[in-house]
Amino acid sequence: MSTYIGAVDSGTTSSRFLIFDENGNLITFHQVQHTMLYPEPGWVEMEPESILAAVVECIDKAIKRFEMMGRLVSDIKAIGITNQRETALVWDRKDGKSLHSAIVWSDTRTHDIVKNINSNKDEAVLVRDLSGLPVTTYFSAVKYKWLLENSPAVQTAVESGDAMFGTIDSWLMYHLTGGASQGGVHVTDVTNASRTLLMNLKSLKWDPILLNIFNVPESVLPEIVSSAEVYGHVKSGPLVGIPVAGCLGDQQAALVGQKCFEKGDAKNTFGTGAFMLFNTGDEPLISQNGMVTTVGFQFGKNKPAYALEGSIASAGSAIKWTRDNLGLIQSSEEIGPLAASVEDSGGVYFVTAFSGLFAPYWRDDARACIVGITHFTTRNHIARATLESMCYQSRAILDCMKQDADAPLRSLKVDGGVSNSDEAMQILSDVLGIDVTRPKMRETTALGAAIAAGYAIGRWTKYSDLDNVNVEGVTSFQPKIDTTKRDDKYKDWAKAIERSYGWAQV
Ligand code: G3P
Repeated sequence: MSTYIGAVDSGTTSSRFLIFDENGNLITFHQVQHTMLYPEPGWVEMEPESILAAVVECIDKAIKRFEMMGRLVSDIKAIGITNQRETALVWDRKDGKSLHSAIVWSDTRTHDIVKNINSNKDEAVLVRDLSGLPVTTYFSAVKYKWLLENSPAVQTAVESGDAMFGTIDSWLMYHLTGGASQGGVHVTDVTNASRTLLMNLKSLKWDPILLNIFNVPESVLPEIVSSAEVYGHVKSGPLVGIPVAGCLGDQQAALVGQKCFEKGDAKNTFGTGAFMLFNTGDEPLISQNGMVTTVGFQFGKNKPAYALEGSIASAGSAIKWTRDNLGLIQSSEEIGPLAASVEDSGGVYFVTAFSGLFAPYWRDDARACIVGITHFTTRNHIARATLESMCYQSRAILDCMKQDADAPLRSLKVDGGVSNSDEAMQILSDVLGIDVTRPKMRETTALGAAIAAGYAIGRWTKYSDLDNVNVEGVTSFQPKIDTTKRDDKYKDWAKAIERSYGWAQV
């Protein structure tokens, strides 16, 4: 009898449901694109119900395809959930309906709240020490605070005890396991909770001091659980009765899916943004260099693995901008060949700070800029500068991680949409000066959620059980430029970065 594991992967731009066999081979999947809402400059919202509908549609269609392949749904033994992190939602316990649009991780409306908290330096340091995170517009608690202060519907529901707060994992988990009518569970896993600014990194519980600083009542929050355990069972649709047994934020799921189980392992996922995670072992390491400390994963009652994370706000979204807003390319795949048709960017630097700059700069006031344009500049140079931008930001992160962890990183595993481009990955290797390795099967985020779910139901019990999972067809990119050129260009990038500061009045 075969065993299959399913994974809901609800990212920023799309939701998917994927089905893997017991060796981690992808059998089939379905994907639905999301609609993003930009109601005001700097605001980024999504409709929670449409995310849920997308997930339900993905499950239905992927299962139909799975059955058409002659396979049995009853052989799917568990599903895992992985999701865009930090995005904040509130819904009503009475009917399970959302009380406000989801405020997406890249939304910057909370800059006044952030400024206010950061004006008390001691408090900002305390938040960082307890949660591992700087106070910025990125993380959930400031979005919760905004909702509590600005949404009458949320305020009323909090007063009546009907408000349920959570991130996308909690929202999906609640509805898949029964919602308001059939006792859906209100939980979040440690990796998602570690992105809220409200969880104590050591106790892995909501921290009273942090709750007090952000003025969020604990009663509205989900229960924090591990990344691999049976949380509940699917209550309707083709997967009815199947345990939901894995849950991780998408970047942590990719860490698991890339099998970065050991201290010193690292991966960089290039999706809407780009997120480099470096496994630092079972003790949290607080960065002195602008990295975020986060929970990498926690399987059941095992000790958690912690990670340093360097987050880049715009990666794939910058390519999308050159396509949709600039008309530079017709499809995203064109950017690689265009960029590779020139030897370098011809002195052009594109700081893709559309939503400010995340690690290691943390500048909410930065906005995107292109510098160094001359009559010589062509669209090819701009295309190359777009790809180089995410690579330079990765280099800045890598340099900081080296200092924090006091250990060199020899190679970096990559995945996510942009990693499909050989040209982009070669530029990355050139800019970083290290080997970059890319698996053939790049659905590592979903695979990570499936691995967690498989672990929870006993399909895999130790890391070595995964030795043969997703090992075929790895591509390796080696640096091809010399150190002098690499370092000179990086110095120019550092100058360009400074030009982006202060454009937004925050
Ligand atoms: O922290 C935000 C991150 O989880 C979003 O990931 O892949 O949707 O860009 P992605």
